[in-house]
Amino acid sequence: MSFAAPALASGSATVPLGSAVWWACMRSAPSGPAALHCPVPFDARYAQIVSGPDRPFDVIVPENEMKMRWLQPKKGQFDFAVADELVGYAQERGMRVRGHVLVFGKDLPSWMAAPSKAKDWTRATLLAALQTHITTVMDHYRDRFPGIIREWDVVNEAFDDNGNYDRNLLAKVIGPDYIEQAFRFAHAADPDAVLFYNEFNADAPNPRSAAVLRMAKDFIARGVPLDGIGLQMHLGLLGPVPSPDDRATVMNSYADLGLRVAITELDIGPLRPFGTITPADQGAIFQQVAQQCATQPACTGMTVWGLADALSWRGVLAAPLLIDAQYEPKPALASVQTVLAAAPARAPLLRLANGPKRLASVPVIDTRSRQFNTTLAARGLRVNVVCPGTPPCSVALTFSLRGVRLATRQATIVGRSHTLRMRMSKRGEAWLRGRRGTGKARLRAQVAGGPFIARSVQIVAPPKAKAAGGSRR
Ligand code: XIL
Repeated sequence: MSFAAPALASGSATVPLGSAVWWACMRSAPSGPAALHCPVPFDARYAQIVSGPDRPFDVIVPENEMKMRWLQPKKGQFDFAVADELVGYAQERGMRVRGHVLVFGKDLPSWMAAPSKAKDWTRATLLAALQTHITTVMDHYRDRFPGIIREWDVVNEAFDDNGNYDRNLLAKVIGPDYIEQAFRFAHAADPDAVLFYNEFNADAPNPRSAAVLRMAKDFIARGVPLDGIGLQMHLGLLGPVPSPDDRATVMNSYADLGLRVAITELDIGPLRPFGTITPADQGAIFQQVAQQCATQPACTGMTVWGLADALSWRGVLAAPLLIDAQYEPKPALASVQTVLAAAPARAPLLRLANGPKRLASVPVIDTRSRQFNTTLAARGLRVNVVCPGTPPCSVALTFSLRGVRLATRQATIVGRSHTLRMRMSKRGEAWLRGRRGTGKARLRAQVAGGPFIARSVQIVAPPKAKAAGGSRR
């Protein structure tokens, strides 16, 4: 059993800035499959930006190299060569890598999704193939490059603009629960990894973002190990740039659930046919987005989708990035760096979900009364705490029963709300074991150290040491 919450950012006081990279553009000699070769002629300035002493990025993200079609080009045959070079490079330079992406239903390899293959799959065989892929990839990176990839995009773009499930092979053959199964497989493979659902065009309140929010609430209620939502923010690609308020509403909606938020694929404009954008306006939006991430304590980082305009997937004319086609930084790069560097310190990135099974829940507890009763049914507690005023606030929680201290926890809450896990004391566990199956007991919680509000308390069963699918740690 583990309620331990490993730290991700080692006390990092600022918000990391990331960039997608084409690994092949770092090298003058092409290697790997042709589709992963650099799409523009080699230019040494590309590598200099990433590796130079003033390198602007703390995190790199493989733009394509970790997609299933490249890591597993044939069924059961994995090829980590190109992606490993990228991760090894980051490791040597003290950078992190965001894992992108384990399951991308719209972008599956042909051995899985070619129309001629579709009839060969059953729910069971396709789920097994997903589990093999997720487990093999996460094992590989955890074992070979410990600590370099802590955040994974587990599932990408599962909804359409109407908020319906994308009708890809996985949704058709397995059903929409392929999404939650992918999270369960990922969590079983690496219980420390911080697991994201990543979505396109969901950066403002719209049917797609509403569908993601519904799914997130459902996953939390059922203990599916989801930790955060990635907002891609390809701004101006399919419609006008959402207003800052709209973007904040979406980010807050996830943060309020206790989830993390990451800006995962930012690029901006041009806005035609939805309008026009000047370099100054583009720079202002870059700065605003950085500000929104900096001031939202749940925001784990901001990543731009490409190092320089010359390489943008939106085309060089779109010029949507922080560095131009001549590899010269735009003024926005410095302003974004300044904003992110000045961001308030955030809590180390904790895994919030570890597959708990919710057994009981007390919806609202106002701890100004400093005690409340609930029903104890298992060996762990999950408490969602909200600072009533401006964060941070500190909390000290003690759950005891007739003098037996069952669980205690002290923490600083930096965000508006945070979910704390509490592990039962040995005495508490022993006491509970003695009462297994003898019905319910009343538990009194004494809460000290306010002011704060414990919004809900859930009594959760810790995951079994050997869950189905098997954590091998
Ligand atoms: C894009 C890459 O940038 C392109 O090079 C590739 O041809 C297609 O995929 N959402 C995602 C990314 O999550 O993986 C996509 O990347 C862009 C949209």
